[in-house]
Amino acid sequence: MNIVVAGFGTVGQSFAQLLLSHKELLKKAYGLVVKVVAAVDSKGAAVSQRGLDLELVLKYKREHGTVAKVPSAGCEMGLTEVIQGVEADVLVEATHTNLTNGEPGMTHIIKALQLGLNVVTVNKGPLALAMPMLKEMAEHRRLALKFSGTVGGGLPVLAFAKECVKGDRAVKVEGILNGTTNYILTRMEEGLKFEDALAEAQEKGYAERDPTLDISGMDTACKLVILANEVLGKRVTLRDVRVEGITKIKPEDIGMAKSLGKAVRLLGVAEESEVFVKPLAIDQSDPLAVKYNYNAVALTLENSGRHTITGKGAGGRETATAIIRDLISIKERLVMT
Ligand code: HSE
Repeated sequence: MNIVVAGFGTVGQSFAQLLLSHKELLKKAYGLVVKVVAAVDSKGAAVSQRGLDLELVLKYKREHGTVAKVPSAGCEMGLTEVIQGVEADVLVEATHTNLTNGEPGMTHIIKALQLGLNVVTVNKGPLALAMPMLKEMAEHRRLALKFSGTVGGGLPVLAFAKECVKGDRAVKVEGILNGTTNYILTRMEEGLKFEDALAEAQEKGYAERDPTLDISGMDTACKLVILANEVLGKRVTLRDVRVEGITKIKPEDIGMAKSLGKAVRLLGVAEESEVFVKPLAIDQSDPLAVKYNYNAVALTLENSGRHTITGKGAGGRETATAIIRDLISIKERLVMT
């Protein structure tokens, strides 16, 4: 499988590392042999139809800040030029989230679909802004558009939810969908100041390039939009979500909740009547009261009740595993058709 990687930041680099360390496993267990024919970042690209030497690409990215400096493969081309010039099966879109117009990810995904490439995205922006349109484009062209890493990082939230709703009806989705804010709230419970906790979350690679997206609740709102569309069948966009972040939470609020056996958590809730993001005090015994960069999603079903899934929801390596999962499912689909 020939792939192009757009975006070579935390997730893109972790993905390259996973491909290197899991090469044999992927081949043996899934028959998946991945050749990265191009990697693109904001300064240029590294291109090789024979397959890039990922060790070298990672080294040059680390040392020179861009893949464009990789000897003999580096160039100044942008993504569109790159995918027009190489033979590839899949675009992995891992550029940063932009909620104003979804760029550059929006153009990357549209171009890739127009040129006949399947797409795996971990970028939430284009989906939060135009999910129905992008899904229709992919379906119309019989191409895969996979996005399991957009919700829950490495945690297979969407696959879990889809399995739960088979033969039942989902009435409510609620969850901790942002690792950064959950990390901050947990560290504040332990006595840290907001700013210091945020700096730690940034250091650990959980936060968005612009951490305002995390603390304002917008990142949670994006994931809630994806869940509401995919699991509840609602046709909502970011505009339909009432959003409140964690910037107004004071240490006293957290202390008070703790003394009452509760934990303050930033929840995203989607049900028939409303879709909102808001910090709430929940029982410490609630399965949603997870700590640090964990995510938790509870799905309430008409017949089988409330099911919860929890796990690490942010981090380069965690999210990169979701890309691998999506590639495996594209591989299975390619074999079947
Ligand atoms: N900034 C996001 C978070 C990354 O903290 O959850 C994963 O989407």
